[in-house]
Amino acid sequence: MKIIGFNGSPRISGGTAWAVSKVLEGAKLKGATTKLFSAGELDIRPCSGCLGCIHKDCCVMMDDMQKVYDDLRESEALVFGTPVYMGQMSAQAKAFTDRLFAHHTPRFSPRFKEEYSNKKLVLLFTQGNPDRDKFKVYYDYTRDMFEMLEFVVEETVVIANTRTEPAFRQKEIPIKLQSVGFSLVESIRKI
Ligand SMILES: Cc1cc2nc3c(=O)[nH]c(=O)nc-3n(C[C@H](O)[C@H](O)[C@H](O)COP(=O)(O)O)c2cc1C
Repeated sequence: MKIIGFNGSPRISGGTAWAVSKVLEGAKLKGATTKLFSAGELDIRPCSGCLGCIHKDCCVMMDDMQKVYDDLRESEALVFGTPVYMGQMSAQAKAFTDRLFAHHTPRFSPRFKEEYSNKKLVLLFTQGNPDRDKFKVYYDYTRDMFEMLEFVVEETVVIANTRTEPAFRQKEIPIKLQSVGFSLVESIRKI
């Protein structure tokens, strides 16, 4: 069983990286093979809208997203983490999401590929704002968007107040993240 993580923060050792790693750690303890991709270490350019993927059946932009595609194809789940930037996902996370277009499409699309559907997804947001419901509308919207792409969203984790109290120092968060990793593996095993 393979589970991949994506850290959408440009900070490779920030709170989002730590949180995604914690979920992967839980999954690993339950027997999954895991791999973490960090936006800050990768050259993932925004989708150019060339529609080359429609003709070639794969993304024709030759950058680091090609490494992610291979692992994503082979994986059962994605742990997608992003810091909140101006009330939304980071630009790096958005570029990653747009580039999924090459393979992940809604069921009604003529390009729909069954083999890319039903992957499990954990959505993880970190935010400076202490009010964890502040961006709820956006978090719900993002979950719906991934569901439209036929991901099965297992959980949305929100870590708030990260400016005042870094994620790793927040009581109960490490245990919570690890248990999300446990549950993810268990839910894949039930398929
Ligand atoms: C450009 C920028 C915009 C941000 N916008 C918001 C925001 O709108 N709301 C919020 O709660 N936090 C905002 N933050 C704070 C980050 O979401 C927060 O510090 C996050 O935990 C950083 O994650 P990282 O350590 O993985 O980089 C912003 C930070 C940056 C750098």
